[in-house]
Amino acid sequence: MAMKTVVALPGEGIGLEVVEATCELLMGTGLPLKILTPPQGAPLPEETKRAAREADGVLFGAAGPSTSPVVSWLRWEMSAWAGVRPIRFFPGMRSPLADPEGIDYVLLRENSEGLYPGREGELADLVKLMPNLSDRTGRTVKSFGTDGRFAVKIVTPRGAERIARFACELARKRQARGKAGKVTCVTKSNVLPRTDGLYQEIVGRIVREAGLQFEHFHVDDAARRLVRFPKSMDVVLCMNLYGDILSDLGAETAGGLGLAPSANFGDGWAYFESVHGSAPDIAGKSIANPTATILSAALMLEHMGLGAEAQRLEAAVGRVYRDGRVLTPDQGGTAKTREMAQAILGAYR
Ligand code: NAI
Ligand code: MG
Repeated sequence: MAMKTVVALPGEGIGLEVVEATCELLMGTGLPLKILTPPQGAPLPEETKRAAREADGVLFGAAGPSTSPVVSWLRWEMSAWAGVRPIRFFPGMRSPLADPEGIDYVLLRENSEGLYPGREGELADLVKLMPNLSDRTGRTVKSFGTDGRFAVKIVTPRGAERIARFACELARKRQARGKAGKVTCVTKSNVLPRTDGLYQEIVGRIVREAGLQFEHFHVDDAARRLVRFPKSMDVVLCMNLYGDILSDLGAETAGGLGLAPSANFGDGWAYFESVHGSAPDIAGKSIANPTATILSAALMLEHMGLGAEAQRLEAAVGRVYRDGRVLTPDQGGTAKTREMAQAILGAYR
């Protein structure tokens, strides 16, 4: 097997702990991996960007206030527009649901448009440009005065189409493995008929044209359904901010935020990271659950052409949860981050 290069960027807080434990695990597998840890920093150094662009795989930990430039570059500047966030229950995970067995869907987040990227400004500037822009009740922008701020939500047909096609491809791949072949679209088109409505319409058309099942729920109803009927989900396609919020909710239904991995794809670009952040409340204590980062590494291995090894790593995670002996405190255990990662390595071997 040819040597593959991985760039590991820990971010900060528990990112440091979970990435270190995961890299140690990866090195222990005996796979032909060379792991580089180029410097972080604000702005992210050119040599780091080059190393990441040239690597076969890029694994990120978690951003916090001082390392947000790292994730900004990985996600926004490199335009990783598709956020793939599998929500899967492994027996032994501490789900708050009575019957979590069988939860296995993918929350797909549009990563580049919508409200989330934070295009904000002074209300006075908006009033100057569009004084008569009005809301559903007819209230104009200028009636708010000029003291305040605004944020902009952007939806383009191009952005909606490409994520819809991505969702279809994902649903088809899952269908080949016996899943429903369904895309559930999440918007708030009842109150945002022009932006969210456009997204819903485009996604619906593309999914139906692909011959897959389509359903749509408003985000508030979707939140409830992800709790009540998680097993009815297959590919849940969310607009950016809704996906951010619902992926934490989904992670929790499966057993916790420390368990949810992600893969982020752009055009000829991919990087892998946990869904969680830098968790300042537990950082430095070596009690962070490494599962989210280890499962992200499995997604990375799959992307690097090591599909069998990725499956083996996921199975090893499953075994450690089934055994229930070496788990971090969030899962009711007493193990440290590194101990749990090493137990997963033991199960992998
Ligand atoms: P967070 O995800 O860091 O933590 C939320 C809660 O979940 C905390 O109580 C934390 O202890 C717990 N938690 C998270 N990961 C865990 C793990 N692996 N094991 C055990 N418990 C875990 O979200 P928060 O506190 O809102 O944000 C903290 C910082 O992280 C902020 O600066 C935020 O901007 C950043 N952030 C970065 C993300 C990223 O890099 N993609 C995603 C979310 C937040
Ligand atoms: Mg989030």
